[in-house]
Amino acid sequence: MLRVEGLHKRYVTDEAEVTALTDIRLDIADGEFVSLLGPSGCGKSTLLKIMAGLIPASSGSMAIQGKEVRGPGPERAMVFQDYALFPWMTVLDNVGFGLEARGVGKAKRTGTAMELLHAVGLQEFAGRFPHHLSGGMKQRVSIARAFAVDPAILLMDEPFGALDAQTRQGLQDELLRIWTARRKTVVFVTHSIEEAIYLSDRIVVMTARPGRIKTIITLPEPRPRDMATSEMSARQREVRAVLGEEISRAAALEQADMMAAG
Ligand SMILES: Nc1ncnc2c1ncn2[C@@H]1O[C@H](COP(=O)(O)OP(=O)(O)OP(=O)(O)O)[C@@H](O)[C@H]1O
Ligand SMILES: [Mg+2]
Repeated sequence: MLRVEGLHKRYVTDEAEVTALTDIRLDIADGEFVSLLGPSGCGKSTLLKIMAGLIPASSGSMAIQGKEVRGPGPERAMVFQDYALFPWMTVLDNVGFGLEARGVGKAKRTGTAMELLHAVGLQEFAGRFPHHLSGGMKQRVSIARAFAVDPAILLMDEPFGALDAQTRQGLQDELLRIWTARRKTVVFVTHSIEEAIYLSDRIVVMTARPGRIKTIITLPEPRPRDMATSEMSARQREVRAVLGEEISRAAALEQADMMAAG
């Protein structure tokens, strides 16, 4: 289990201080797929980066299997919106990079990387460089890279946000397929209500800044989920209603900021 307790995050820069998160408390079970949904600037990426150990919390704690963690660790991998592939490495080397960093030998590295490239349908592209790939393909490579190190927890920050609708849907299905086969814990940030409902066991809706947890919606519906059914439409209305309130509040806050700045 991943447990976050009493988490606060305050960013202090020369110009300003921003409270990004207040009192976040969340338990995520092993193998669970949890999405974070909330207005822009509510602290979703901040929470994910704290979970990844990339930035420190201002206070509060995080524990994995009951053990407190502070920095990054091999049991967690992150997938970003902008792929973050190394342009000078082939697709195969990009996928194997995390394994190399862990001292895994070349033959084993290649085997694991090829297996994952198969899983995301890119085995033919192993020897290519990232600039030869479309956005959707690059994101497949970053997903393969994240799975390559066999992390227990996968942290994904709007991984499909930059993709067209069709590519996005294909990748959602691919992600669900790999997740079902390998049962990782996934924490998935998205702006799309539909995507969150399609993928998640639970949706954590956050409030406008400073981010708190507003509601957690549990989705017991079996997968694959047919978004065209009335049941799923009702879910979308339910989530849209809670999220809508916070988006309006975020917009009002932004307006107030602009007025204050003159
Ligand atoms: N490095 C930083 N220094 C100072 N303030 C920051 C920093 N990173 C984020 N913030 C501020 O913290 C708040 C939360 O930012 P964060 O990026 O976590 O939001 P988000 O929910 O991921 O937004 P989006 O949906 O737009 O990606 C924002 O007000 C942002 O301006
Ligand atoms: Mg973000």
